[in-house]
Amino acid sequence: MEEKQLKDELDALKQEIHFHNYRYHVLDDPLVSDAEFDRMLKRLKEIESQHPEWITPDSPSQRAGAEPAERFKKTRHPRPILSLANAFSNQDLLDWFERIAKLDERVRGSAFVVEPKFDGLTVVLHYQNGMFIRGATRGDGEIGEDITSNIRTIRALPLRIPVKADGPRAPGTLVVRGEAFINLADFETLNQKLEEQGLKPYQNPRNTAAGSLRQLDPQLTASRPLTMLTYAIVASDGDVPRTQWELLAYLRELGFPVTRYATLCKDMQEVLQVCDAWQDQRNDMPYEIDGLVIKLNDLALQAALGFVGKDPRGAIALKFPAKEATTKVEDIKVNVGRTGVLTPYAVLDPVEIGGVTVKQATLHNFDYIRDKDIRIKDRVRVKRAGDVIPYVIGPIPELRNGTETAFVPPEHCPSCGAPTEHIEGEVPWYCVNAACPEQLIRNLEHFVSKGAMNIVGLGIRLVQELVQHGLVKDVADLYTLKESDLLELEGFAEKKTGNLLDAIRESKTQPLSRVITALGIRGVGEVAAIDLAARFHSLDALAQASYEELTALEGFGPNISQAILDWFANPRNQDLVRKLKEVGIDPLETEKDGGSQPLTGMTFVITGTLPHFSRDAASDFIRAHGGKVSSSVSSQTSYVVLGSEPGSKYEKAQQLGIPILSEEELKTLVAKE
Ligand code: IVH
Repeated sequence: MEEKQLKDELDALKQEIHFHNYRYHVLDDPLVSDAEFDRMLKRLKEIESQHPEWITPDSPSQRAGAEPAERFKKTRHPRPILSLANAFSNQDLLDWFERIAKLDERVRGSAFVVEPKFDGLTVVLHYQNGMFIRGATRGDGEIGEDITSNIRTIRALPLRIPVKADGPRAPGTLVVRGEAFINLADFETLNQKLEEQGLKPYQNPRNTAAGSLRQLDPQLTASRPLTMLTYAIVASDGDVPRTQWELLAYLRELGFPVTRYATLCKDMQEVLQVCDAWQDQRNDMPYEIDGLVIKLNDLALQAALGFVGKDPRGAIALKFPAKEATTKVEDIKVNVGRTGVLTPYAVLDPVEIGGVTVKQATLHNFDYIRDKDIRIKDRVRVKRAGDVIPYVIGPIPELRNGTETAFVPPEHCPSCGAPTEHIEGEVPWYCVNAACPEQLIRNLEHFVSKGAMNIVGLGIRLVQELVQHGLVKDVADLYTLKESDLLELEGFAEKKTGNLLDAIRESKTQPLSRVITALGIRGVGEVAAIDLAARFHSLDALAQASYEELTALEGFGPNISQAILDWFANPRNQDLVRKLKEVGIDPLETEKDGGSQPLTGMTFVITGTLPHFSRDAASDFIRAHGGKVSSSVSSQTSYVVLGSEPGSKYEKAQQLGIPILSEEELKTLVAKE
């Protein structure tokens, strides 16, 4: 009897965990706190460890439970996984429309669905009686690779349908097609972590997603922030909706992740309008898309139109103008960063990419140039993705004519001429001269920037001039600048000088967190600085902090903690802190009454994808500053933190008149107190 109770508890837990996982990863609308979710998962694992014979493949504990594979098995798709014909302009779309309307007159009265074309990797998902049993890559369209264990790690994937106890049941056999990819914000967080560890960052979300799905060890796949969206049914032995629009709703009902960005258009005219509107919207997406897919809404009509080769006639991809181009590397130069890291970049024969003229592109690091064998005068492929700086994808060796020369990492800093250093086995090369003017310029730029001391009117040009004229030798010198110093510079009349000196003086009252950010310690950004200020209350206390005290802080690993220790151990930096204090910069973060913190008494609800924070990080941040995080909007909610692609919570907040904050405003709220 006791056994039965335990088994029932396990079954109930499984159902509940599936449901909450779905609320979190698919609906982006969690109902329970992370801690509560973790508790349920812990209890489930406890029962499973007592009764390993009860572990089933659809258990939430099995997402990353499989052993590494030696190779992937091949698997035949139940029906060919087709690709799409491409259109590149509105005219191409109209031509397509006319072509298919001639084949079937019903097309003229038909509606269409416009969906984003997700730039990821096609996955084919098999369900038997509602259980996820197999996941495959597209392969050649007929035969793909069985990557079940890897796909299982994607948390947006329903392991079992229905995900909610009262949800609709799945047909006996169901095969769904979708695209797996990585959200841009998650990609950036992943790269930040790698950089902090001195490792090579990934180049782009698509390749990272593709590489992650093809790992033989599912544990590795599980450590990458993959997600997915579904958009088609490949096979089913049940009733399938008759239109694409209803099909998307049906997949959503079953518990699959489906884009919110699909639009139903009543005719071709509307399709063209929607496509035009996307030209702007494309850059604001939380994930990369490389075009739109226009589909006849009537699925029977789509099928009746048949195929041309491997492309169905009833749908077409409108590709966005390429964000990639080929051009020539005129030269390879080297930038010196704030911490002395040398970063190579290519000086290009200017080329237009997606409406912008690109003259330079990053080459990431010296290893990258060597690994890709990129040479000066090579013809190369260059890519511009989202807001990311353009980068060189690689050379086109077939176009070499013998004039190309290999690049040699500089032995001396291009700015100050000091010898460069490189530790064997590590990626970065450094200029270790602390007095290097280029480093000083980058340091000053950072020091005065919006998220740090926020000195308005002190732009890069002026920073360069101040350094070149020898007026500023470290950031503290800004505070001893005199009117007569500035009047020497070109374009400086009295009024401008007065404004700038006012702005500099005003910045002395910035709170401790901003001063810590401004110091430019490697790995210490705005969020970490806020945490350090809250914990240590003064620059002196922070300077005395031990390794143990630092690593005890949530989110402070060995690398960042060591970087903080190293920074304060450096005599030049000690000198700088002393000078800053002398000019009056020594803010104290006072402990609030009874330990109250900036967000004490406030309740927050987060919706949508935030630009820099993952949902977990944002919740941690709010809690770390005394706030509460809730999953649903009510009159008790103090603020809704809004990201892109928000859920229904946004509408609710508007109805109730709850104030809305951006991620940036949330940070300001904490820093201000
Ligand atoms: S529909 C018959 N819809 O784009 C159905 N495909 O070049 C054909 N893709 O490999 C596919 N987003 O995997 C469709 N919303 C979307 C899509 C999409 C991305 C991929 C698809 C295919 C490629 C076609």
